[in-house]
Amino acid sequence: MATVEALPREGLDVSEGSLWAASAWRPMFARLREEDPVNRCENSIFGPYWSITRYDDIVAVEADPQTFSSSWEHGGIVIFDMQDTGVQLRMFIAMDDPEHGEKRKAIAPAVAPSEIAKLAGPLRERTAAILDSLPVGHPFDWVHSVSIPLTTAMIATLFNFPWDERDKLPEWSDWAAKIDIGPDPVLNAERERHVFEMAARFKELYEERRAAPPQPDLLSMMAHSASFGEMDEQRFIGAIALLLVGGNDTTRNSMSGLIERINQYPDAWAAVKADVKGLASGAATETIRLQTPIAHMRRTATRDVEFGGKTIRKGDKVVMWYNSGNRDEDVFPDGDRWDPTRENSRRHLSFGYGIHRCLGARLAELQLVTLIEEMAARDMEVKLVSDPERLPSCFTNGYEHIMVTMTRGDGANG
Ligand code: HEM
Repeated sequence: MATVEALPREGLDVSEGSLWAASAWRPMFARLREEDPVNRCENSIFGPYWSITRYDDIVAVEADPQTFSSSWEHGGIVIFDMQDTGVQLRMFIAMDDPEHGEKRKAIAPAVAPSEIAKLAGPLRERTAAILDSLPVGHPFDWVHSVSIPLTTAMIATLFNFPWDERDKLPEWSDWAAKIDIGPDPVLNAERERHVFEMAARFKELYEERRAAPPQPDLLSMMAHSASFGEMDEQRFIGAIALLLVGGNDTTRNSMSGLIERINQYPDAWAAVKADVKGLASGAATETIRLQTPIAHMRRTATRDVEFGGKTIRKGDKVVMWYNSGNRDEDVFPDGDRWDPTRENSRRHLSFGYGIHRCLGARLAELQLVTLIEEMAARDMEVKLVSDPERLPSCFTNGYEHIMVTMTRGDGANG
């Protein structure tokens, strides 16, 4: 494989799945930030696209939704054109205002700080129970033993989804999120099957909640909201899928990313354990910054525009690489370092910016802080036993498996 320096700068394709599976993208983005921060790639399996790689440029694109549209009508919010898949999910993340704003307003109360606070108790109990069930000194898969069960339990609580069916949630979510599988007819048909199954089950639950008095769960709130009440099938499926994918893969991959970080920076982890009150929140934010569970969001130019010294044409795909903005040395010195004491960590772009900024940010942070606090309370050491197995995706920046062993310093070893 050629070194990054030897590759022609023009047309550097950072979307290739193999780059992400091998976690080999850092030098490519460092080079783009340095040499050509608004870079045009002509050839990729997703067609031509612009890469926006510096922090300030990403913020500038997000701050101008009139010029840089999120709408599914132009292709949506990921590098893969949404029109190219058989299942077109009408998610409000892939809409422009005013429709986006109306739908967002309907969901927002369910994830308001007062609602999130109600989840804190059950969340801590579940986290503790899962950590206490882990084997001491024997290898296990952190992704499947901790990250997936914890995030699934939280989403089931949020929707008040039937507890004994909750394993369906990550299965549906994983398939709904496979938006960069390309135009593969077999995979698309499989995805379609899962998404329709999800839609049918949620439609049933939605009708039940609509017939019942309002409850404080998300589905009931949607069923009783004027904005959601009359929406068509595709928009309904889209809203559900958005909350599922938004809450599932992202938080899951942050919880998994934490394990890589504490293995890379054992001294910083020791410091967190020694001052968990002071550092748990910084450790959570740094984990989300460095993991960047959603590596990119895409926009489509609605007019010709001069940007960063380049001419972006109407209809061009503009891909904002949050993983790169989060390592921009002008904003985050020594940017690859996991530093729970970093003062401006909260400025990271993992939750996006502007009118579409993540609605679940507080909930995600709460889950991660709780996990860190409960691990620290058990004085846990979690060691990688092999290289993590990563997803070959430039969108969901995450893991298939992370094999680890765990010991506890709190005397409860086994
Ligand atoms: C670490 C965890 C998470 C990450 C990294 C993340 C990331 C993101 C990103 C990048 C966006 C798009 C922002 C933009 O375009 O500017 C977004 C939007 C969104 N997220 Fe999250 N998310 C996380 C957790 C959650 C959770 C737990 C939920 C809900 C349960 C959620 C619900 C949403 C929704 C509804 C939107 C759409 C907002 C809009 O279009 O107005 N997310 N998220």
